[in-house]
Amino acid sequence: MPSPFSAANSKSIREMFAGVAPRYDLANQVLSFGLDRSWRKYVCERVATWKPTRILDLATGSGVLAKELAKMNTNSLVVGADFCIPMLKVARKRDVEHLVVADGLALPFADASFDVITVAFGLRNMAFLDRALGEMARTTRSGGHIIILDFSLPSGPLLPAYRFYLHFILPRLAGWLTGEPAPYQYLGDSIESFPRGTAMTALIEQAGFVKAAARPLSGGIVTAYLAERG
Ligand SMILES: C[S@@+](CC[C@H](N)C(=O)[O-])C[C@H]1O[C@@H](n2cnc3c(N)ncnc32)[C@H](O)[C@@H]1O
Repeated sequence: MPSPFSAANSKSIREMFAGVAPRYDLANQVLSFGLDRSWRKYVCERVATWKPTRILDLATGSGVLAKELAKMNTNSLVVGADFCIPMLKVARKRDVEHLVVADGLALPFADASFDVITVAFGLRNMAFLDRALGEMARTTRSGGHIIILDFSLPSGPLLPAYRFYLHFILPRLAGWLTGEPAPYQYLGDSIESFPRGTAMTALIEQAGFVKAAARPLSGGIVTAYLAERG
């Protein structure tokens, strides 16, 4: 299944993130009004309950989540993987110890390499969602877990205001903060077309996971999808 981006523009996705890499973290904090911290905290707390020894943070970007996972799971090996080298350089500066240049559509890891795979705001950017989920299933051990964190849309009265922010305010603000308006211009469109709720849990289960569940956060502007490898 093609995601909002086609295979042909994997290269442009990588270049787009290379362009925003130096100011990515600042933009994240401002544009999410600091809520990004609470979303990562949720992921870290859930991961800690599984007591994993090998964790992959896929599409790790600037490595914020990988760093926090490592802090909270001191007995675990935490690997951050991303296909954008300038983003990984930011992660390196943050002292994320284990970093790998890797494409989520063809992961350079053996089957069942990880107890837990996390992916925050990365899956939506991958050219083929089913292939990316398939790679996550292949590299998660049986009985292991995944958490996918990504933007979604709130339901109810918040929706029109949120859409206005997403399509009109955010791209302008982000363009000003990063000097790179293009990624944020289609952020909104990619969120609109990314599968949500039961559509997403069905795709996760088709990939080989079981007990997939959606947990809306911050009124539904973000959803955490949790599942176990069957
Ligand atoms: C919005 S950033 C998220 C970074 C980080 N996970 C976070 O929560 O801040 C998306 C990241 O996904 C990475 N990415 C997109 N497609 C990818 C792919 N096919 N393989 C690996 N990384 C990918 C990008 O390079 C970028 O660093």
